[in-house]
Amino acid sequence: MRITGCIFDLDGVLVDTARYHFLAWKRLADKLGINFTEEDNERLKGVSRMDSLEIILELGKLNINAELKQEYAALKNKWYVEYISRMSPDEMLPGSLEFIKELRGAGIPLAIGSASKNTPAILERIGILNLFDAVADGNLVSTAKPHPGVFIKAAELLGVKAADCVVFEDAIAGVKAALNAGMMCIGVGAPNVLSEAHFVVKGLNEMSLEKLRIFEKEVSL
Ligand code: G6P
Ligand code: MG
Repeated sequence: MRITGCIFDLDGVLVDTARYHFLAWKRLADKLGINFTEEDNERLKGVSRMDSLEIILELGKLNINAELKQEYAALKNKWYVEYISRMSPDEMLPGSLEFIKELRGAGIPLAIGSASKNTPAILERIGILNLFDAVADGNLVSTAKPHPGVFIKAAELLGVKAADCVVFEDAIAGVKAALNAGMMCIGVGAPNVLSEAHFVVKGLNEMSLEKLRIFEKEVSL
């Protein structure tokens, strides 16, 4: 295949927000008396806010009504927004800014594909909004990963065919979403966790346009 569009998940791929999501969920779990570990948190990565809450409630075997669910989700988000409002540009993950700039310099269309409704706030806070040609996020698409919706939307906004896109993802649900969209997927993180991805790198500091051109030769979609 020949890649003509690159789609980046945000949390845990470009910025180190995954730990803020964890801290905010952990704070809620503690408040509810639910034991919630970093290992449990893997299941929440890439998963929408409400679905994440459902997983935590299930861990604690807690049954609550819809109104209370909304309240808890809002509380978690309030804490999360507090954390990210203090973020600085140096919280971009190593190599991500350099890689994006390299791709941009080569004229490759770039998009964000994230479930987060806080995407615009984070991109602005970090100062990288202007580096992307399109942003598909939780405000635009309501289906949650592993549904491919957010990546299909990103490709559509870029005007690139799904089969010509590559997705960079750190979450199991996100890798599945990329494959469901019929796209090539490069996992960012641990190979044993992201084993379904076509390739896995530890971080975007391991990526370059040259490496992408090598990877794409090995994939046929
Ligand atoms: C990303 C994160 C998830 C988060 C989701 C929704 O996919 O990986 O951990 O739950 O976005 O984020 P939001 O900011 O809308 O609550
Ligand atoms: Mg992520």
